[in-house]
Amino acid sequence: MGIYLDNAATSFPKPQEVAKAVYEYMLYNGATAGRGAYGRAMEADRLVYETRKLLADFFHFNDSKKVIFTSNVTESINLVMNGILKQGDHVITSSLEHNAVWRCLKTLERDRGIRITAIPATKEGFTNPEDVEKAIQQNTRLIVFTHASNVLGTIQPVREIGAIARKLGIPFLVDAAQTAGVYPIDIEKDNIDLLAFTGHKGLMGPMGTGGLIINWNGVINPLKHGGTGGDSAYEFQPEYYPNKFETGTLNVSGIIGLREALRFIQKEGIETILDKEKRLLTYALERLCEVKNIIIYGPKDAEKAVGVLSFNLKGISGEDVAYRLDQDYNIMVRVGLHCAPTAHRIIGTEKEGTLRIGIGYFNEKSDIDKLVEALKEIIGDK
Ligand SMILES: Cc1ncc(COP(=O)(O)O)c(C=O)c1O
Repeated sequence: MGIYLDNAATSFPKPQEVAKAVYEYMLYNGATAGRGAYGRAMEADRLVYETRKLLADFFHFNDSKKVIFTSNVTESINLVMNGILKQGDHVITSSLEHNAVWRCLKTLERDRGIRITAIPATKEGFTNPEDVEKAIQQNTRLIVFTHASNVLGTIQPVREIGAIARKLGIPFLVDAAQTAGVYPIDIEKDNIDLLAFTGHKGLMGPMGTGGLIINWNGVINPLKHGGTGGDSAYEFQPEYYPNKFETGTLNVSGIIGLREALRFIQKEGIETILDKEKRLLTYALERLCEVKNIIIYGPKDAEKAVGVLSFNLKGISGEDVAYRLDQDYNIMVRVGLHCAPTAHRIIGTEKEGTLRIGIGYFNEKSDIDKLVEALKEIIGDK
């Protein structure tokens, strides 16, 4: 199977229970949710409802009908931005955003004339919340921040930024792609109005699952219009949640897999997961320093980052290193810009990008040992 160190892209392996639940639903149920009155459809409905409830509990939210299923965090972010922002609105964001946020903002800048302020971050990826406050204007209509950078791993001060946003009544959207499932999130305590997450990374669910939690009373227009399984004679999208935003047949098999993934995380305990990832990150930081000519980016402190670590080896292209790791050692890492070009500008790697390891719950210290030994051989230090 090799050594999988690309968990920041998607987690692997998934818990056995996840695959089993998807398989069994496909074999023995297969009915759509929210559309049928027969037993199997009602069972599908119940499982979807339970997943909604599990997600609400998981993020300490008390209104499960405002947990909206989407196909991934990218869709959730598009939903919010397209649904809120109008001509001339101003948006504040970080300098570390994934293209899920950045391209969506740039498109709205081009097509709706919105204006964007990206708050500068330090070389380690730290943002000062005071800079966010200073950037607020009369027409600031949204603040959007990634919770943790997918290039540097740096955790952003969302609670502090959220408090500023709350004080001024500006909705605060958090992209939790790199934190949901590996880092505790409390939507109330963390002052989050709109929490966008994806199901297939730290939450250990299937691809094609994700969601948005709406903890805000302002108007959001739906991204899609169509069938919701009810009110069929009404010619427009219903206004009530979750149907306002959930159009078309849901990914029931994926959602059922996500349900098992959430139960798995609850069984293990998020603190246990966080603790293991921190230990592995600390170990990786220690051991990677042994590699000659290595440049490690980011905070180099497991208390301040999730299990994402970027590096380069001086004198060899990242692509060559990644290719050799795969071909000669069966070690899987990511290389390039990781869909976050602005983050690379901060560390001066906007041309070549970085090599990135994404540590997951099923990695062990021995995986890091093998990576370090392989890198030493590649650099000719063995
Ligand atoms: C910070 C961040 N935001 C958004 C995304 C997009 O995730 P998805 O492809 O599941 O929508 C990713 C994944 O690469 C990410 O790391």
